[in-house]
Amino acid sequence: MTEFSERYGPWAVIAGGSDGIGASFAHALARRGLNLVLLARRAQVLGALAAKVRAAHGVEVRTVVVDLSAPQAIAELAAATADLEIGLYIANAGGDDSSELFLDKDLDTHHALVRRNCLSVIEAAYRFGGPMVSRGRGGVILATSGAAWAGGVHLAAYGATKAFDLILAEALWAEWHDLGVDVLALVITATDTPSLHRALDAKGGYSGALADPDDVASTALDHLGDGPTWMCGSGNPLGPPPVGTLTRREAVLRMSGRAPAAEGQSTTGT
Ligand SMILES: NC(=O)c1ccc[n+]([C@@H]2O[C@H](COP(=O)([O-])OP(=O)(O)OC[C@H]3O[C@@H](n4cnc5c(N)ncnc54)[C@H](OP(=O)(O)O)[C@@H]3O)[C@@H](O)[C@H]2O)c1
Repeated sequence: MTEFSERYGPWAVIAGGSDGIGASFAHALARRGLNLVLLARRAQVLGALAAKVRAAHGVEVRTVVVDLSAPQAIAELAAATADLEIGLYIANAGGDDSSELFLDKDLDTHHALVRRNCLSVIEAAYRFGGPMVSRGRGGVILATSGAAWAGGVHLAAYGATKAFDLILAEALWAEWHDLGVDVLALVITATDTPSLHRALDAKGGYSGALADPDDVASTALDHLGDGPTWMCGSGNPLGPPPVGTLTRREAVLRMSGRAPAAEGQSTTGT
């Protein structure tokens, strides 16, 4: 047993754990000795990753096929893991791979995004965080984005959900830090994942540098105790938000690509 698995094990849930940063979290956690519950919608992709992780690291892996936009998603996850001690919950699924103007998406799409990125996250924090607080140990990571710092064109609902996750994680950190549970708002910038590539293809490409998902996952786990907020890719990951010195109007124009982007700010719609 590693120090990490004693603090955050024996089981971790990765909600959105079949590709991209979720798959990187799976390998990084298995390497640290945790058993895994991997959740996603596509059973085949999920099963393939589970087999790979078992073979590579010799840990136990359980898969749960659930759509996090469905109202019963977290209740189903809780039922599927009722016999396990979950010491770490990662709310990873959250990307928006169809970056469009607010009115060009139908209302159902906006509702589904809010259910996956806000309601499922708050329910999971409640259902899985409660037992961690009772045990006096554990961890929660909420994946958020540079899109949380200010509103921007093509980012309306997505950015709003990411701001929700950022504030939720920071508040839970404030409530749970002294009770032994580490919470981290993980601010992610443009990272090389299938979801990002779907978004970029729709927008006609992106010329900026992309972070490596393995680096994002390992850095997050290395700094899980350094909450409330870790800004991936920033020269000052614990420092002030990159829009901190701007007026709100300047921040919104920057986020909308109408002024040069600041360090650590995503204008890719992810
Ligand atoms: N990649 C970037 O450039 C970037 C930048 C900023 C922030 N982020 C944040 O980083 C996190 C991970 O991003 P990512 O790029 O790896 O892609 P992602 O699309 O957020 O996550 C992909 C994983 O989530 C699962 N998933 C997606 N929707 C789901 C749903 N409704 N129910 C259950 N599972 C679902 C996918 O599997 P299935 O499709 O099989 O369900 C896959 O396992 C997100 O929260 C995103 O907002 C990413």
